[in-house]
Amino acid sequence: MKIEKIGFIGTGTISEAMIRGLLAESPALLHVIVSPRSAEISQRLAAEFAEVSIAADNQSVIDQSDMVVLAFRPQIAQDVMSELKFRTGQSVLSVIAATDRQTLLGWIGVEVQLVQAIPLPFVARREGVTAIFPADNDVADLFSVLGTTVECDTKQEYDLLAAASSLMSTVLGIMDMSAAWLEDNGLAADKGRAYIAALFTSLSQTAMRSDVPLVDLSREFATKGGLNEQVLSDFKAKGGHDALISALDRVLRRIKGDTDT
Ligand SMILES: NC(=O)c1ccc[n+]([C@@H]2O[C@H](COP(=O)([O-])OP(=O)(O)OC[C@H]3O[C@@H](n4cnc5c(N)ncnc54)[C@H](OP(=O)(O)O)[C@@H]3O)[C@@H](O)[C@H]2O)c1
Repeated sequence: MKIEKIGFIGTGTISEAMIRGLLAESPALLHVIVSPRSAEISQRLAAEFAEVSIAADNQSVIDQSDMVVLAFRPQIAQDVMSELKFRTGQSVLSVIAATDRQTLLGWIGVEVQLVQAIPLPFVARREGVTAIFPADNDVADLFSVLGTTVECDTKQEYDLLAAASSLMSTVLGIMDMSAAWLEDNGLAADKGRAYIAALFTSLSQTAMRSDVPLVDLSREFATKGGLNEQVLSDFKAKGGHDALISALDRVLRRIKGDTDT
């Protein structure tokens, strides 16, 4: 990877996941500089990894880094940014949710190489898929260490993948509802969970390995008149499909800043 020194402003959950992914096995970076906050997380990381050092303050993170990651909450973003000075041409990676490129560039105030990304907690195990916008070789290399990267050519593509990333709780919720149904009907909780988790893993791996359209894959598992066909047909007939599509439409409107959603 070309980037050797990366700095994190906001050492919270997602920064910790990225840093662990980058350093836990065969470290991908020479030096990681973290902001003092959160004190507990930054101290834990510095104690665990020789490559991590804690900067005196946020500005010092910028001054020491080739690439700066902005990883604090959107509610405080403007206040934090108003105190910082970036170098012209510096590489800046924002993982701040719901804050668009023009707003970030306005706060930064000088010409920087700005890329936005949506890392997911799986990056800690180098298993995350990360959407980035716009396409950028250095940032794509970084997230390729942490799993896989999808480079978006337009804001619309990026917003769509942000909407897709909001399916995580629902998919886990479907697993939970199915496992709870098994338990209510007399199957031991650990057996139900072991079965459901493995079933979803196999289905995801099948989709990952194949380039057959998903609709055809779904049909392959639905024997005519069989059990899978019956559940899919009930799911659609009883509003499952419509509920999913309208939830995605509504979250996309929120991502795009429609305040009525
Ligand atoms: N978690 C995810 O899966 C995920 C995924 C993609 C994107 N994101 C986005 O990433 C950003 C961070 O999310 P998170 O889950 O990591 O949140 P988090 O755990 O709350 O971390 C935010 C960090 O910012 C620190 N902070 C607060 N004020 C600061 C300041 N003035 N200067 C420097 N740091 C300051 C907080 O420190 P204190 O604890 O001391 O207040 C905390 O360590 C958000 O914009 C979120 O939307 C999160």
